[in-house]
Amino acid sequence: MEIQTKFQDKCIEILEECEQFDLLEKFENATEEEKDSLAQQIVKLDFDFKGGLAEYCERARDLLNDSKMGVNPFGGFVPSVPTGINVEANSKEFHQLEATGMENMQDACFVLVAGGLGERLGYSSIKVGLPLTLLDKELCYLKFYCEYIKAFESRVIRNVDEEKREGFHIPLCIMTSGDTHEKTLSLLEEKEYFGLTKDQVTVVKQEKVPALIDNNSNFSVAKDKLEIETKPHGHGDVHTLLHQHGVIQKWAKMDKRWVVFFQDTNALVFRAIPSALGVSVKRDFDVNSICVPRKPGEAMGGIATLTNEAVNQKITINVEYNQLDPLLRASWNKDGDVADENGYSFFPGNTNVIVMKVSTYLDTLDKTQGLIPEFVNPKYKDESKEVFKSATRLECMMQDFPKLLDKTSKVGFSCYEKWFCFSAVKNNIVDAAVKFDKGLSPECGATGEYDIFECNAKILKMVGVEFEDTVEEDIKDFQGIRVKDGAKVFLHPSFGVTIKEIRDKITGENYISKKSMLWLQGEETTIHNLHLDSTLVTSSFPQTLEGEYKDQKYIDYVPLSPTDEDFENLDEVIKIRGFKLCPPENFDELNIISN
Ligand code: UTP
Repeated sequence: MEIQTKFQDKCIEILEECEQFDLLEKFENATEEEKDSLAQQIVKLDFDFKGGLAEYCERARDLLNDSKMGVNPFGGFVPSVPTGINVEANSKEFHQLEATGMENMQDACFVLVAGGLGERLGYSSIKVGLPLTLLDKELCYLKFYCEYIKAFESRVIRNVDEEKREGFHIPLCIMTSGDTHEKTLSLLEEKEYFGLTKDQVTVVKQEKVPALIDNNSNFSVAKDKLEIETKPHGHGDVHTLLHQHGVIQKWAKMDKRWVVFFQDTNALVFRAIPSALGVSVKRDFDVNSICVPRKPGEAMGGIATLTNEAVNQKITINVEYNQLDPLLRASWNKDGDVADENGYSFFPGNTNVIVMKVSTYLDTLDKTQGLIPEFVNPKYKDESKEVFKSATRLECMMQDFPKLLDKTSKVGFSCYEKWFCFSAVKNNIVDAAVKFDKGLSPECGATGEYDIFECNAKILKMVGVEFEDTVEEDIKDFQGIRVKDGAKVFLHPSFGVTIKEIRDKITGENYISKKSMLWLQGEETTIHNLHLDSTLVTSSFPQTLEGEYKDQKYIDYVPLSPTDEDFENLDEVIKIRGFKLCPPENFDELNIISN
C-alpha cells in the first residue's frame, strides 16, 4: 500500500514537472487501480528516458514550436561536397586498405542496431532471425554476423600480443527494443550465441517514449484505459545506450579503437568493412560512413558537408533526400542535386553503416551525457499547424551523431559500388514490386537473396573465375520482382574475409555454369581447376575443390503465386521471397562435401 502511494506521489510530481495538466485531472478522477497502473507506467518512462520526462517534454515543446514556425534545421548552412574516398573493389588501393583494416581489426568492436519493428517488411518475427538464403534456413542474419566476427577473430588472433590472446574477442553489442528484445535473446540463447561467448555479446534495449498529441507536448492517452501511448524513439538511441550502460567505456578500457555500427539485414556490407576500417585508420577519421553512389533525387540520404560561418560551425552529416535538393538549390547549385560525369550525385548515399573512432566517440558522449540530437516530424491536420493527424514523438537517428562533433573533427566517407556492399531486406513483396516498376531498389526478400549470389559471383569473377553468361531468358519474375537467375554462389565468412584471401585460394582455371550452385565454406577450403555444372556444397572441413562436376544436379528457384494451392501453408520466410526451392529428386545425392 505504502509503495503504491509512493508511486502515485512520484507520478503526480513527474506529471506536474511535465506540465501534463489534462492528464493530472484524469489521474485525480481515476480509480485506485487505474492510478496505480498509470503511476507505474509514468515512473518507468521517466526512469528509462535519459534526463527524465520533464526534459523530454521541454525539448519536444521547443522542437514542435520550431516545426510550427517552419524553422529550417539547416538554416544558415552552406552545403559542399564532403571529403571521402571512392574505393574500387579489387584495386591496388583497395587491397592496401583491406590489409590496413585487418591489421587493426583486433581493435574493433561491432554494434548491431536491431530494434526496428520492420513494419514495411511485415514479417511476424525479428528480421535478424530471417535466413539469408533458402539454401540454409539455419543461417539467419544474426548467425551470419556472428560467423563474420568469428572469422575476423581467427584471422587477427595472430596479431594479438601473446599474453592477451587467451580470452581475446571482438565484442558485439546488439540494440534491441520492446518489439525485438525477447525474441533476439531467445535466439541467442537457443543457438548458444552462435559460437561467440556470452561475455562477448552485450544486449541493450531501447525503450519507447510518450506519444504527443499537440504542440504543448500533451501525452496521448489510450481511448479505453488510462495509459500513455508510446512510440519508438529511433535508432539514435544506440549512442545513448552504449554510454548509459557503460559499454563504450568498457571497450575503451579494453583498448578498442574502432566501433562499427551496422544494420539488421544488410549482409553484404561486411565485404566493405575491412577496407572501410583501413580508410578510417589511414585518414584518421573520427566518423566514416560507408556509402554507395546515389542518383540525383534517389530516395536515400546523402552525405554533405554543411558550413555556417556565422556561428563558426562545420559538420559532415547525412541529409535526408527530401531536404537535400532544396538545400543545394538554395546555396550550392541552382539546379540542386545534379549528376557528376558518371551520372551520380556529388553527395554519396548513406548505407547507415558507420565506423567511429572510440576515443572521439566516448569523449563526445561524455560531454553530452549520452544525449544525441532529436527531431520531431508531426503531420498537421490544417494550415494553422495546431492539430496533428496522429500522435507524434521525439525521434533520433544514429547517423546524426556527427552533429555533436566540433569543427576540427574528421568526418568522411568510403564509397563503394552498391552491388558490393548494400542490399537490405525492408519491404514486403507487393510494395517492393511497385518500387521495382518505378526503377527503385525493391530491397525485399527476393533481391536480398539474389544480390548475395550476384555479389559473390562477381567477387569470384573479379579474382579470375569464369562464369557462363546469363541471357534474357534467364530472368525470373517473382511477383513483379525480376532478377537475373545465374549461378548461385555463397561465400561463407569462414571461407574468406578479404578479397585477397579469396583470391589466394583460387588457382588454376575455374568455370561455373549459370545453373550451378556453389557454397564455399571453411578457412582451408581452396579451389583449383574446378569445372562446375551442378551443385557443390562444402563445409568447414579442409578440402580442395577440383575437377569436373557435370552431373547437372541443379537447385531450381521456382516462382510462387499467392493463388497457388499450397501458398497459404508455406513457411513465411518462403512467402516473403516469392520463390521456393526445387531440388532434384535425389537431393541426398547432391555433391555435398563434409567431414
Ligand atoms: P529501418 O529503416 O529498416 O526501420 O531501420 P525499421 O523500423 O526496422 O523498419 P520499418 O520502418 O518499421 O519498416 C534501420 C535500422 O535501424 C534499426 C533497425 O532494426 C535497422 O537495423 N532500428 C530502427 C532500431 O534499432 N531502432 C529503431 O527504433 C528503428
